[in-house]
Amino acid sequence: MAGLTHQFLSVTVVLGAVQLINGYSFNNCILDVNSNRTHFNCINLKDKNMTAIIHDLPRSVTSLTISKNQVWHIPNNSFAHLPWMQNLRLDHNRLRIIDQLAFQNLHQLQSLNLSFNNISVLHPSLFVDLHNLTFLSLTNNTLKQLPGGIFSATLNLNTLNMSQNLLTNFSGITESLSHLRNLKKLDLCFNSLTSLSSNVSLPTSLTAIYLCRNNLSTLGCEHSFLGLIEVLDLSYNSRLPTMAFEGVDLGRINYLRLRSTSVKVVAFLNISNINAGSVDFSGTGLKNDRLLIELCRLLKTKVKWIKNLHLGINGIKNLTTDTLNYCPNITGYLDLSHNELKFTNCLHFLKRQTYIKGFNAEHNHLTTLQSCKTQTQNTAFKYLEELTYRYNRILSVSSHAFYHMQNIKTLQLNINTIAFLHHEALKGLTKLETLRLDNNLLTDLFNDTFEDNVKLQTLNLRNNRIAVIFNGTFHRLGKLITLDLGGNKITHFQPSGLDGLKSLSKFYLDGNNLKQIDSSLYRVFQGTLTVLDLQSNMIRFFNGTEIMSPFQNLSALRDLKLDGQRPHGLTLLPRAFFRGLHSLKSLYLTQNNLIALAADAFDDLTGLRFLTLDSCCVGVTKLQPGVFKNLRNLTILIVENMGIQNFSKEVFGNLTRLSVLHLNRNIMQSINVDALQNLTKLQYLDIRGIPLTCTCQNSLLQNWTRNNPKVQVVLLYNVPCQHDAKFKFYNFDSKVCYIDLGKYLFLSTAVVIFLFTLSPILYVKLYWKMKYSYYVFRSWFGEKWRRLREEEENCEYDAFISYNSFDEQWVMEQLIPNLEGNGSSFKLCLHHRDFELGRNIVDNIVSAVYSSRKTICVVSRNFLQSEWCSLEIQLASYRLFDEHRDVLLLVFLEPISERQLSSYHRMRKVMLKKTYLQWPGSDCTNPMQAQDLFWNHLRRAMTTGSRLKTEESLKCDVCVPAESEETKHFETSDENDYLLQKEN
Ligand SMILES: *[C@@H]1O[C@H](CO)[C@@H](O)[C@H](O)[C@H]1NC(C)=O
Ligand SMILES: *[C@@H]1O[C@H](CO)[C@@H](O)[C@H](O)[C@H]1NC(C)=O
Repeated sequence: MAGLTHQFLSVTVVLGAVQLINGYSFNNCILDVNSNRTHFNCINLKDKNMTAIIHDLPRSVTSLTISKNQVWHIPNNSFAHLPWMQNLRLDHNRLRIIDQLAFQNLHQLQSLNLSFNNISVLHPSLFVDLHNLTFLSLTNNTLKQLPGGIFSATLNLNTLNMSQNLLTNFSGITESLSHLRNLKKLDLCFNSLTSLSSNVSLPTSLTAIYLCRNNLSTLGCEHSFLGLIEVLDLSYNSRLPTMAFEGVDLGRINYLRLRSTSVKVVAFLNISNINAGSVDFSGTGLKNDRLLIELCRLLKTKVKWIKNLHLGINGIKNLTTDTLNYCPNITGYLDLSHNELKFTNCLHFLKRQTYIKGFNAEHNHLTTLQSCKTQTQNTAFKYLEELTYRYNRILSVSSHAFYHMQNIKTLQLNINTIAFLHHEALKGLTKLETLRLDNNLLTDLFNDTFEDNVKLQTLNLRNNRIAVIFNGTFHRLGKLITLDLGGNKITHFQPSGLDGLKSLSKFYLDGNNLKQIDSSLYRVFQGTLTVLDLQSNMIRFFNGTEIMSPFQNLSALRDLKLDGQRPHGLTLLPRAFFRGLHSLKSLYLTQNNLIALAADAFDDLTGLRFLTLDSCCVGVTKLQPGVFKNLRNLTILIVENMGIQNFSKEVFGNLTRLSVLHLNRNIMQSINVDALQNLTKLQYLDIRGIPLTCTCQNSLLQNWTRNNPKVQVVLLYNVPCQHDAKFKFYNFDSKVCYIDLGKYLFLSTAVVIFLFTLSPILYVKLYWKMKYSYYVFRSWFGEKWRRLREEEENCEYDAFISYNSFDEQWVMEQLIPNLEGNGSSFKLCLHHRDFELGRNIVDNIVSAVYSSRKTICVVSRNFLQSEWCSLEIQLASYRLFDEHRDVLLLVFLEPISERQLSSYHRMRKVMLKKTYLQWPGSDCTNPMQAQDLFWNHLRRAMTTGSRLKTEESLKCDVCVPAESEETKHFETSDENDYLLQKEN
């Protein structure tokens, strides 16, 4: 308890001090969990204020991505607090204005990406601190020119990409680059350059320059200007004439791209000193044999060997057997992609190209691959290893289609329309390692289709129409490591359909129509299988009773995907379903309409590191205490969108290694902090999209999320309060929640009791005062009050007589004759006689009291019971006590015991302070004499000052009331003077 109090206390102190946030959460950016506080992403934000977006990032940042935001301005010193930054991406924003000192202090920056913005002007000293910059991209902006000296400090710049701008002045560009000694690659594609004329030379380090899609109508450069360039891309400069190359040294070029220019290649070769290792003459109109032969001849006069020859986009329909014989020997690749080839003719045209390594006929019009068995050229294509026919329209592959190329290792037949693959089509490919047959229309595989491919390691059959895997299909593929059968229509395997796959490690079966998991099939590769993808099949369980685990012996399995079973989901997980998966590291169970998760569902997965249950279940899911109890190695847990309403501390009990927890999009209104505190290794917590209430129920959570130095609560500062999204969870007012509960209860109880005790006292003590004050106040402003004051000045009456109507007889017969007649001429105010008709009785009383010099109260038992009389006495005594004007005279008509008076506190107080007269009733022994004396005293009291002196002689010895037993002394004190004092 003491500890708890201490905790409360320190919490209160912390909260009281400042809005101190020690937490590990950031306003706009998300820390990459594995990066040790160095990699941040700030993406898709509405905020336009750069400073606001990154102000809270720690100094340790080395890599920062601020992308797809509305930011348009980078103010000075924006990154000054991030001096270790190496990688800065600012692409795909709306940047227009970058202040001169925007990148100040980024001395370590190596890579800066400003692409896809609206930058049209750069300040000359913008990059002055970026000594270490090696990569800069300004792609897709609206730059018209570069200011002089902009790269004067970036001496380490290696790659500069300024494609897709509005640059026109090539000379200006080269001037700003001329002193760079490390620049290797310069991309100026998609600009408006018209020539390469330049006053200064290119940096000697520059080897690759991309000038595609400009408006070059000439090169206009010195002989040696491009003398050191190795890669030159001049594609899509449709106005560039062949003669532009006259006298330009291209001696070092090994990759020249002249795709879709108006350059006449033959003429070009005649005037140019190009001696290319690789040339790209794509899109130069070399469409027929005559032009190609001419090209080859010319090339051969220059070089004996050529590495790569690109002849794409030339509209080539056919190649005769001899065409390429005139070419120099190709030692690398021949690229004939994007032409119009209809047949390959068993690659006859490459017959003499004995050294060729790869052939590319992608994007042609091939429809069939013919049999090549008759061409027994076992000597040809000795070195051909790679053949690619992707993106054709191949419908059928005949038997022995590759029989003459027995050395190929990679064959790419994917993205065609192959519906018929002859069962002997792949005959002879004994060295094949990678076979791509994906994205075709295959329906059947025969048991001898892969008969010869004994070295095959990767077989991709994804996205075909295979329905059944027949016995023995893969029986020779003992080296196969990866088998991709995803996206087919497989409903079942024949009993020995997977036999022979002794090395299989990765098996993709996702997107098929499997209804169950047939464990007997997997027995061949039990010890080797590491990945099994069964996502999006039709597996479903109808009861949860224990079954023999289908994964029983997959002791090496690391990844298991069972997510998204169509159309109804797994529905249930049978008991002990995962038994035997000791090595499993990742398990995917999302989107499975699971009705429940048993507390022992994952008990066997002791090695699991990653578990995603995102949207796995139906409706509101209860996470049973202990459901993760054996997952001691789990580091990432995704329980997003599961309809979790609440969970107890025990749910995450043993997850001592958990570092990432996605709780987002659930429906709990509060989270038990104890449950989170158990997760000692937690670094990343996502609680977005949870309807958290901003009440004391969550005050501890709020405090935990704000002050935890280890856990990043993703975008905490944007998490809204449930009741109103305008309020934020992190700063709802929770101070009140931290008062010690005991103290709180004590205080509130005390206040309640105090009020209960006080209210009767206040009622009695202040009731009249308040009532009086109210009336006084009310009349103060009124005309009535003015009149009343005037009346008071004049003191219209000598005395206001306050009496009860029961005592009217005494007043009429005794009081009035003795005071108004009988030689005395006092003017009395009597309510029945002098009160103004139609006026509020209270106003009348107030007026009467204030316009009379004295108020005589005729006290009887009846008087005491009359409220209005009480008001009169209260008013008069108020004047006595508070205005210190002694106006009250008490006349007791009958003896009244102290007990009877005791309920009239104020009256009693008046009596203690004041004199009073006792009317000597008829029971006195000498009433006449005593009554004369009474009137004398009263008259004197009305005329003289306030106080009446005690006179011993006035004792009424005879005046002993009948009920004398009950009559007691009124309390007396020395200060009080008496007119009459009763004796015992
Ligand atoms: C993370 O960085 C800090 C300093 O920034 C360093 O002390 C710590 O060892 C690093 N941790 C890891 C796991 O790299
Ligand atoms: C941007 O945010 C910073 C800090 O949050 C603030 O000081 C500055 O005034 C803001 N600038 C604009 C233009 O709103």
